[in-house]
Amino acid sequence: MFSVDIKKCIGCALCIKDCFVNDIEMIDTHASIKNLNCFKCGHCIAICPVGAISTDEYNMSDVIEYEKKSFDINPENLLNFIKFRRTIRQFENKDIEKDKILKIIEAGRFTQTASNSQDTSYIVVQKNIQELKKLALESLNRMATQILDNSTSPLFRRYAKLWIQMYKNYIEDPNKEDRLFFNAPLIIVVVSDSQVNGALASSNMELMINSLGLGTVFSGFFTKASENNPDIKEFLGIAPEKQIVTCMVIGYPSIKYSRTVPRKSADISWR
Ligand SMILES: Cc1cc2nc3c(=O)[nH]c(=O)nc-3n(C[C@H](O)[C@H](O)[C@H](O)COP(=O)(O)O)c2cc1C
Repeated sequence: MFSVDIKKCIGCALCIKDCFVNDIEMIDTHASIKNLNCFKCGHCIAICPVGAISTDEYNMSDVIEYEKKSFDINPENLLNFIKFRRTIRQFENKDIEKDKILKIIEAGRFTQTASNSQDTSYIVVQKNIQELKKLALESLNRMATQILDNSTSPLFRRYAKLWIQMYKNYIEDPNKEDRLFFNAPLIIVVVSDSQVNGALASSNMELMINSLGLGTVFSGFFTKASENNPDIKEFLGIAPEKQIVTCMVIGYPSIKYSRTVPRKSADISWR
């Protein structure tokens, strides 16, 4: 339940105006939360000038008072950070510290979700990467055969040939060339009911990964493999109705970039 401490409430009504689901009313001189339509977004907690609102459903120690110095980001730096981020496919043979893994997940946890559903979850794979790789490559190999039998798309056929080669390489030497997980020490599989929620969380996680001096590649190949192999979900303990949205392959980069890259100009229409 969300509640108002009436001893602190000054009756400013800011929480009432900002409540998207109209779940707060004024009773006499203070705000009162009905807890009927509340979807627990926490806007009332964040906006209250005197900190009168709290909830017993979440950990209130998550809440941090705004402080300009430690909260604001200069827009030029933010844009440079986004432009300089690269997909990393070469990693050091070095484990990732647990506090860094938790920080990455924290960036996902605080990402917005539709209707504040907070339906995103995270599967951290470190010890069982080889087994996961095997399942995924077996799946890609099977899919590749079907594609080569049935598809004329040059792109699909190119991928199919690559997947067959990846599987062959794995069978020859599971620890050699790895074009699926690039011999990275950490995989985080992001699971959600909604593709958008999971993708937004992944995007913020990627920013955190970069700010921690780590790097990542989104393994679309793995996501594709998991769509076609229920054993992968079972191996990861994911309920059949849940979606694997992204697979983030993470490690310390063993390379350095010196500059940003060019891109297509933005396709914008002003109306
Ligand atoms: C959804 C998604 C899936 C991707 N899948 C793969 C993949 O399976 N293997 C890979 O090497 N790179 C993968 N990438 C990385 C893209 O190839 C890369 O983002 C793109 O070439 C641009 O390079 P940059 O990220 O360094 O800017 C994926 C990227 C995204 C966003």
